[in-house]
Amino acid sequence: VRPLTEIEKRKERHLRLSLDENVQSDIGTGFGDVRLIHRALPEIDLDEIDTETDLFGKRLASPLIVSAITGGTGFAKEINSTLAEVAEELGLGIGVGSQRIALEDPGVEHTFTVVREKAPSSLVMGNIGCPQLSIGWGVEEAKRCIDMIGADALGIHMNPLQEAVQLGGDTRYSGVLEKIKAITGELGTPVVMKETGAGISREVAVSLEAAGVSALEVSGVGGTSWAAVEHHIAKVEGKKSQEALGEALWNWGIPTAISVVEVSGSTDLKIIASGGLRTGVEMAKAIALGADAVGIAKPFLEKAVEGKGALLEHVNDILREFRTVMFLVGARNVEELKKVPVVVLGRTSEWLRLRGYDLQSLANRG
Ligand SMILES: Cc1cc2nc3c(=O)[nH]c(=O)nc-3n(C[C@H](O)[C@H](O)[C@H](O)COP(=O)(O)O)c2cc1C
Repeated sequence: VRPLTEIEKRKERHLRLSLDENVQSDIGTGFGDVRLIHRALPEIDLDEIDTETDLFGKRLASPLIVSAITGGTGFAKEINSTLAEVAEELGLGIGVGSQRIALEDPGVEHTFTVVREKAPSSLVMGNIGCPQLSIGWGVEEAKRCIDMIGADALGIHMNPLQEAVQLGGDTRYSGVLEKIKAITGELGTPVVMKETGAGISREVAVSLEAAGVSALEVSGVGGTSWAAVEHHIAKVEGKKSQEALGEALWNWGIPTAISVVEVSGSTDLKIIASGGLRTGVEMAKAIALGADAVGIAKPFLEKAVEGKGALLEHVNDILREFRTVMFLVGARNVEELKKVPVVVLGRTSEWLRLRGYDLQSLANRG
């Protein structure tokens, strides 16, 4: 067995650290402030509820996606294999982790292609990062990512917070929007711009829509914090100033529920809600707020490490909750769920009102 390369070591460390250390943001997603209105007379049968939805030309049995996590090492391949088997079995979408490592070393492509092998009919999303675009990668590399796994869409991650806290991180972000425009113009495959735990604002969403992207994955604050992950790495490395920076920015960003309202209210893009989504109740709230689907990363990673059975059980619990909430608000299908009234309270409402959103109409629609 050959020794791990630097990038493989980093990938392995991200996995181990996010499994072993506290990397949870300690401010909420905002979904605690979001309430759906209970219907004592749903006037539908639980059995008739249909959770199917279409995304990027693929049918999802439920609007749930395994968000981008990993690839590139033996451990990552095992995880990807388990995630993909469950995605295929339950009709979920699935994203792979950053494919940069496989573009640089085609010898590790098999750690990504296992996803398509195990999930032949699923919606599969590729992944590349904005930092690679700013160092000169473009349409050609994007196409290689898509071809590698037969991707139905390409995720491009935005992670300025992580790169800023990371030791030797790549913080060149100027000119990235132009690069994205060039890629969407030539690619012919939908591009999903995704954050990685700090959320997307209305202003950025509008500029990305103008740049021709198809969808946004908000990945807001409330779940896995990449400032926290890089804080732990800096600590191990004895780099005091980066360690402190990670701590200072642990909770930086836009809470997920707020980000969903901001981006869905200002664009016609498809929206994936992610960042701290943990339950089927929150999943229903996210869709009622304007998301088309929901993405979950860290809890699925943890269960995949336990094994396929544990992951299946966990996802099934989430889906049972989701379906039950649909019943309790009288939504027969996902389209009806998108139209139910939503009451937004507390700090989340304060933010949204200051940003000009009409929460009164949202609470009284339908
Ligand atoms: C170990 C780990 C690795 C990740 N790697 C990537 C990645 O390569 N590309 C990416 O776009 N997002 C990556 N993410 C971010 C997730 O897709 C997601 O946006 C974020 O973790 C928030 O979701 P969560 O709170 O459900 O974990 C990673 C997350 C974890 C936990």
